[in-house]
Amino acid sequence: MRDAFAAAFGTEPSGVWSAPGRVNLIGEHTDYNGGASLPFAIDRRARVAVALRAERVARVGTSFADDIVELEIDDLVSGTTRPVGWAAYVLGIVWALGEIVDLEDVAGFDAWINSDVPVGVGVSSSAAIEAAVCIALDELWGLGLDRRTMVRVCQRAENIIAGAPTGTLDQSAALLTRPGAGVLLDFARGTARQVPLGLAEANLALLVVDSTVRHDHTTGGYRKRRAECERAAAFASVDHLAQIPVESVAAWEGSMPDVEFRRMRHVVTDTARCFAAARLLEAGDPTKIGPLLTQAHASLRDDFEISVSAIDTAVDAALSAGAYGARLTGGGFGGASVALVDLDDVERVASHIADTVEHAGHARPVVFPVQASGGAIREEGT
Ligand code: GLA
Repeated sequence: MRDAFAAAFGTEPSGVWSAPGRVNLIGEHTDYNGGASLPFAIDRRARVAVALRAERVARVGTSFADDIVELEIDDLVSGTTRPVGWAAYVLGIVWALGEIVDLEDVAGFDAWINSDVPVGVGVSSSAAIEAAVCIALDELWGLGLDRRTMVRVCQRAENIIAGAPTGTLDQSAALLTRPGAGVLLDFARGTARQVPLGLAEANLALLVVDSTVRHDHTTGGYRKRRAECERAAAFASVDHLAQIPVESVAAWEGSMPDVEFRRMRHVVTDTARCFAAARLLEAGDPTKIGPLLTQAHASLRDDFEISVSAIDTAVDAALSAGAYGARLTGGGFGGASVALVDLDDVERVASHIADTVEHAGHARPVVFPVQASGGAIREEGT
């Protein structure tokens, strides 16, 4: 990072900050519906090396694009200039910080971004960049923001500058997770509870199966699902769908249009599954969450309708190879699934999934195990 920074800007960075991608274990499309999710930080991170500079200009470069983007801080804050492409995730943070703090006196900066969080897979590569940049600027500009405020800052950058109408799941995972734990996010209460995963202790591994079908939440399906959920909430006269008790779900059948009913059933039951999974993990028996993961997949496939054939095939293949549970993870319309498997069985299950999906006529998926890591930090020694 330091060498790349020096090559790009001719100076030394003041430090390197990083934030993780995430895997959402359970609780999908629940964040903007006032439900719950249980993500954990993975051992893939976005890193940003930053140094302040005298001129009120931001210059940002990255290992995954050739251009250096240069914008005036004042133009960013006023919204006169909107960063686009990858730079939106970096410089969108400046705009979003400018909404809540006075940036009139802050210095400009140079930033170099690197990341090994795969893009378009559903493991939140964008939130990882946003969170790393946010903690770096918070420290260098002496803003003293707390992590929850930073979650909202990163969400605003994602929603308004990057243009993806997402909730706060990904940014919360990147900013609120402690090393080795999952985090139970209760979006209605606004709480974040650390939950032990205990996967390695139970001789388990979590495989990510990247379908290589790419999604883009700035367009299409994600936005449509949000609108459908809002319509379902209006039918039920609630502010957020997850306010509907799980026992009342069936009574709504026929009382709202079928599409809205099924979207609602997914949100309410997935929230219940999320709390149930957290209780099982806290009781120290991670294998028991397997059936909940598989039920969640059926709900995402049939009720929420955001799975794709390559992912359904991967989930079925994982289960037939002996996985405890498997499901689509992330926003859907492509991306990845996860499978909970015995540690000793990782290789066999991984190749069974890849072979089966390929034989079914889809692109060969990329299967990799993930470890729980921790949230956004300043990297040691920088
Ligand atoms: C994407 C969004 C999140 C969340 C998930 C689905 O990752 O960024 O806010 O809605 O989809 O759970």
